[in-house]
Amino acid sequence: MIDENTGILLLSHGSRLDDGEEVIKAYTEMFKEEYPNAKVEYGFMEIRKPGIPETINKLTKGNDLEKIIVVPVFVAHGLHTKRDIPSLLGIESDYKEEDAHGHHHHHHHGHGHGHDHGHHHHHHHHDDEEEDFEFDGEIILTDPLGIDTRLYDIIKDRISEHL
Ligand code: NI
Repeated sequence: MIDENTGILLLSHGSRLDDGEEVIKAYTEMFKEEYPNAKVEYGFMEIRKPGIPETINKLTKGNDLEKIIVVPVFVAHGLHTKRDIPSLLGIESDYKEEDAHGHHHHHHHGHGHGHDHGHHHHHHHHDDEEEDFEFDGEIILTDPLGIDTRLYDIIKDRISEHL
């Protein structure tokens, strides 16, 4: 059972090609099928719509949410999960700029209010025109998929298909 005051966002990276949307949409539909009352949406970190603010607005519209659980459907942590996604969600992260030695230049807005109940908002990030969101509940960003024998089994399947 999923609490009626809980929203769930399955977050994909985002691509100009449709393949990624097919995957994240399918997982979202599987979840809805298993938990018909769940308030669940999928969205994209960048490149493709709906983006994070738009998806949060979809979840909160007409719903009295206290909590939004954001699952980054990524295999591992990286700059996106450690830095960019927390920034877009308006939550704190333990990421420090000196951790990265890449050439990316990102703007930090410093509006993080942690994972506790707080006032989350987002405005003008990067160059594209995204809508804003306002949410006074708790936003939880989970770990990515990580190391799991269920994923290892899929890797073995992909190999065995070509043996
Ligand atoms: Ni990226």
